[in-house]
Amino acid sequence: MLNVLVLGASGATGQKVVAQLLSKNATICAVVRTPGVFATLTSQYPSLSEVIGDVSTWSVDDFCQQLAECDVVISCLGHNLTLKGIFGQPRRLVTQTIDKVLTAINSLEKSNKTKLILMNTTGNANRGIPEVPELSQRIVVSILRYTLPPHVDNEQAADVLRRNIKPNHAYIEWVTVRPDTLTDDQQLSSYEVFESPIRNAIFNAGETSRVNVAHFMASLASDDDLWERWKGKMPVIYNG
Ligand SMILES: NC(=O)c1ccc[n+]([C@@H]2O[C@H](COP(=O)([O-])OP(=O)(O)OC[C@H]3O[C@@H](n4cnc5c(N)ncnc54)[C@H](OP(=O)(O)O)[C@@H]3O)[C@@H](O)[C@H]2O)c1
Repeated sequence: MLNVLVLGASGATGQKVVAQLLSKNATICAVVRTPGVFATLTSQYPSLSEVIGDVSTWSVDDFCQQLAECDVVISCLGHNLTLKGIFGQPRRLVTQTIDKVLTAINSLEKSNKTKLILMNTTGNANRGIPEVPELSQRIVVSILRYTLPPHVDNEQAADVLRRNIKPNHAYIEWVTVRPDTLTDDQQLSSYEVFESPIRNAIFNAGETSRVNVAHFMASLASDDDLWERWKGKMPVIYNG
């Protein structure tokens, strides 16, 4: 049975990830700050439980407790789109969380590698390939680095995985999923996945519905062939 810890489970994408994982019969620990987000579903599905807590305050030991039985971690964390969420603390919510998750997994020294799936953005280039966005995008992104803390957080969180977890790492494998502009379509639709963006993320952005992102991330968690195709990469996903 697949055991998945979902961070940011209460978010717009996180909730869809939980729904997709339920359809794959996974055992799910959904981390939420406010209890009851999944009240209807937890009464229906014994395999789903809420873990109540604010991950920004968790210690490495707190993460160890949640990760001991976990095969896959999916992070859908993101800053709330309010002044406090964008400019207040914790400015490195995602980066610090990923950092602690890595330290916790390393310290557990489990025999099976833990898979880590990070939700990120097409605005973040994969500097490991290297990937060179158009000049117009690079200029705007440089400005965003000084003005928009969540963008820097997304870049640094992806860097923590790319720089620290090499293909031969003993305990961790990762995929960083990069959607374009997120939309809230109810129905799953066709989508395409690429190694690098095929559009300018600022001046010619495409769309990616959250349900499609959720489907792709849940499929990565459950489908070994798909995981082998994308592990250690930063796939970009657009609606088809
Ligand atoms: N908007 C776009 O077009 C776009 C495009 C590409 C990528 N992205 C990225 O996609 C990710 C997810 O997007 P989304 O729209 O699904 O996010 P969302 O609905 O805003 O969900 C964010 C999640 O993070 C949690 N969270 C926020 N601040 C927290 C804190 N201080 N401590 C602990 N948990 C916290 C939220 O918990 P609560 O429910 O308790 O607040 C929620 O579960 C983000 O990283 C975003 O940058 C966005």
